[in-house]
Parts: sequence; C-alpha cells; structure tokens
Amino acid sequence: MLETVTATRFAVPLREGGSLPGLVEADDLGMYVVKFRGAGQGLKVLVAEVLVGEIARALDIPVPRLAVVDLPRDIARYEADEEVQDLLTASVGTNLGLDYLPGSFGYDGSRPATAEQAAPIVWLDAYTANIDRTWANPNLLVWGGRPWVIDHGAALYFHHSWARRAPDAERFSAQPFDASDHVLGDLIGDLTSTHETLAAVLTDEVLTGIVDLVPDAWLETGEHLPSPQSVRQAYVAHLTARRDHPAAWLPGGHP
Ligand SMILES: Nc1ncnc2c1ncn2[C@@H]1O[C@H](COP(=O)(O)OP(=O)(O)O)[C@@H](O)[C@H]1O
Ligand SMILES: [Mg+2]
Repeated sequence: MLETVTATRFAVPLREGGSLPGLVEADDLGMYVVKFRGAGQGLKVLVAEVLVGEIARALDIPVPRLAVVDLPRDIARYEADEEVQDLLTASVGTNLGLDYLPGSFGYDGSRPATAEQAAPIVWLDAYTANIDRTWANPNLLVWGGRPWVIDHGAALYFHHSWARRAPDAERFSAQPFDASDHVLGDLIGDLTSTHETLAAVLTDEVLTGIVDLVPDAWLETGEHLPSPQSVRQAYVAHLTARRDHPAAWLPGGHP
C-alpha cells in the first residue's frame, strides 16, 4: 500500500491543467499536489497516476513520491471559494497526493534533457500509452537540474472501456504509439536496447507489486470484473502483454 497522510489545510488550487489539482498541507507537515477523486474524471485517473508513477520509479525515472491523502469533511466546510468547496466536498475520503517539488519549473527546453534521460521517459510513455507529454503539455518539471515526470492520468486509457466490454490485454499490446510530437521525441535514437533493459526490470513480480499499491477502494468493479482482485489481475495482464510484445508500439519499431 501507499503511505497514507491526512490533509490539514487546503492551500491553493493549481489551475493550470484540466484536472483541478490543488496544493494541500498534510499531518506529516508535507505539502502535496493532490489529484482529487471528485474532479470529474473518475477514480481510474488516480489509478493510472499510481501505476505509471510507480512504474517510472521502478525504472529510476525521477518522479515525485506518491501518497494517499485522506481529506476530512471539515476542510471542505471552511473553504471560501465555492468552486473549490464543491470539489473538496466531492472528494472527502481518499485522494492521490504527489510530493510538492518546491522551486521546480515546467520543462521548456531551456534546460534540455540528455539523451540518457529522454530515452526511458519516451519508452515509459510508449509502454503505458501516455499521449500527454507534448510541447503543448510537457508534464515534465525541472527540479535539481533533472526532468521529473508528472501527470499520468491519461495513460492506460484501455481501462475506460471496461464498463462496456471485457478486458482485452492482447488488444492493448498491439496498440501503436506515435512519438512524433513527444516533447522529448527529438532527443532519442533507437530504443531497442532501452526496451531490452527496461522491460527486464518490469518482471511479473515487480508489476504485480505496483498494481498492489492501488487502494482497493479505487478499483471499480462491474459485470466483467466482479472483484478488486480481478481488476488487479486485468492490469497485470495488460502490462505484461504489452511488455512482451513491443513490435506494435516501440518507437522506431522492434527488430
Ligand atoms: N509534484 C509537483 N510539484 C510541483 N508542482 C507540481 C507538481 N505536480 C504538479 N505540479 C504543477 O501543477 C500543474 C498541474 O498538474 P498536473 O499533474 O499536470 O495536472 P493537470 O494538467 O491534469 O491539471 C503542473 O503543470 C505543475 O505546474
Ligand atoms: Mg498536466
């Protein structure tokens, strides 16, 4: 399980992107950028944040520490801004927090990533089908002179179809990825050896351990997936299938 902290104060909304994250102080005195369960994009977005963020961590890609942030009802009650109050009221309970990186700035190419930093990030995005790292929306922060990856709610979009049809890991493993407008796309060369190295890190055990980090309460069950455990198994099946079949999605192709 991820560490759980309790929110003590809502500091300020971060109005940049679409998901209305906010800066929250917690009882460990940490500041967290919180992705709210009530933000309207549903719990699957939080699941994708956990899975892709922890896959990045397993691959030694810099990514903020993640925690479950429990939001008590009284924090919502004392918020003056009506829009924020609605969001907080809808988010009482467990939310996803990312350790706040003070003094970081959005990647703009002024401090370009190296080829060694870029290759694993592009691989991560191709592997998890994350289309949300373009120049329009880099979702990279520069901190300590290195690029850090954030904002993975749009990845692993296959899970949005689970309410309508049975999970299909094979279909995901064959889904192509277009790296042509990736913010780091110009910095990478052939990714074949990157793939061999990183795929070997993501063993079945590692992937199962990452999927196990997601709180049960965020795993939506339904006709095709009757229990949280079956949802976990579906994620592991998708991630292992795509790992083992890079031909369709590895940028530049796979020999
Ligand atoms: N861990 C963090 N530390 C500092 N700033 C962050 C952090 N996470 C997000 N931010 C800031 O908040 C903005 C929005 O966060 P993001 O995860 O991209 O959500 P979205 O784009 O869905 O609103 C980012 O562009 C960045 O400026
Ligand atoms: Mg963003």
